[in-house]
Amino acid sequence: MSNQQDSNWIFDGDYCGHILRGQFSDDLKKRVAEAIGLFRGFNVAANPAIPYISAWRENADKSIWYEFVGNRLLQLLGCQPCEVAEIFRDSVLQRLSYHCGGDSEKINRMTLEHHDLALFQEELRNEGKSRGAMEAVYKISLKDRPAIWLKDQAAVESFPVDQVCLSFGSLTDVTMVMKAEEQELQEKELLRGRHRELERKIEQQNKELWRMQLEMIYRLAQAAQFRDSSSGPHITKMSYYCDILCQAAGLSEEERQLIFHATAMHDVGKLGIAESILHKPGRLTEQEFAIMKSHSIIGAKLLSGNDSPLLQMARGIALTHHERWDGTGYPTGLSRDEIPLSGRIAAICDVFDALTSQRPYKQAWDTEQAFAEVEKGRGSQFDPELVDLFLASKNDIASIRQRFASSLAFKQ
Ligand SMILES: [Fe+2]
Ligand SMILES: [Fe+2]
Repeated sequence: MSNQQDSNWIFDGDYCGHILRGQFSDDLKKRVAEAIGLFRGFNVAANPAIPYISAWRENADKSIWYEFVGNRLLQLLGCQPCEVAEIFRDSVLQRLSYHCGGDSEKINRMTLEHHDLALFQEELRNEGKSRGAMEAVYKISLKDRPAIWLKDQAAVESFPVDQVCLSFGSLTDVTMVMKAEEQELQEKELLRGRHRELERKIEQQNKELWRMQLEMIYRLAQAAQFRDSSSGPHITKMSYYCDILCQAAGLSEEERQLIFHATAMHDVGKLGIAESILHKPGRLTEQEFAIMKSHSIIGAKLLSGNDSPLLQMARGIALTHHERWDGTGYPTGLSRDEIPLSGRIAAICDVFDALTSQRPYKQAWDTEQAFAEVEKGRGSQFDPELVDLFLASKNDIASIRQRFASSLAFKQ
């Protein structure tokens, strides 16, 4: 400042700062005095921006003070210029800043809550100093009044000789815009909540649907088993054998679960086979055998007309569990990969369990004998790769057989 007279007009006003009266360099004092002169010109009611000049020391406690405060900020905060820093700090609920997300056009909103502001204060000031600018929106709560939002835009200048930073800024009331943004966020959150609730309901309904499908499947399978009483716990063992083979074949958890339950239905078509054929003690005639073979088609018909994955899987297994790898099976004579994987898996497990189960007309085979029989069908009756996997799982298969043998012995 050239002389004290030049600066008297500043002190005549409501000067609230420290720089013009303190031990600071002339350069800094001159910059502040010029800026105050300029900012007073902007400090008119018609200007939507409220001008201010704030300052902080870089070496000491870094607390902020104001060199100039526009009248409207004093009115808003209801305080004296020297109280502005403290009241403003205490009234801030949130500090919001917006950043472009790199190459994308997405705008990221960063929110600092009141209690975090003190922690990040130094970082924010350093960022402002290095960028030469600061921009943020403050949500402010004032006594007994609804919250308001003030947009703060400032240029930051550093004075290394004095170790002081000056912020030449303006505050604009952006309450309308921010209220709209807040409402939009609340509506989005409400929608997200409804969406989550809907998803939860759908999941619940799907679980219920799955439970009902299983119940239907097992009741039908039970009905078929009542008629074919010689087969005992055949369907349960089949499900476990199939599961071991599915796991060995690397099927997903979901596929395994479908096959495990769907296998229970493989012989449901026997419900449609006459009692006289189903329980004929002697050998079936060619005609009777043809009727017996129709159980795969009857089963598929019973399970058709529903697009649930479980019933579709059950239908496929019922239809194809008597097909053979070499194409000489029934009902269609499919061969190799034409037979669905689930049908090829069921074919091996069905035969293995039939061999190792006692029937009125035969004794149960020894486990090793049954494995040898399965191996004999490798590449003719059965998928060779699945046979290899089945034989590689001998221990697991044998332990299932053992488990059911002991549970039956216990029941008897
Ligand atoms: Fe069958
Ligand atoms: Fe069977």
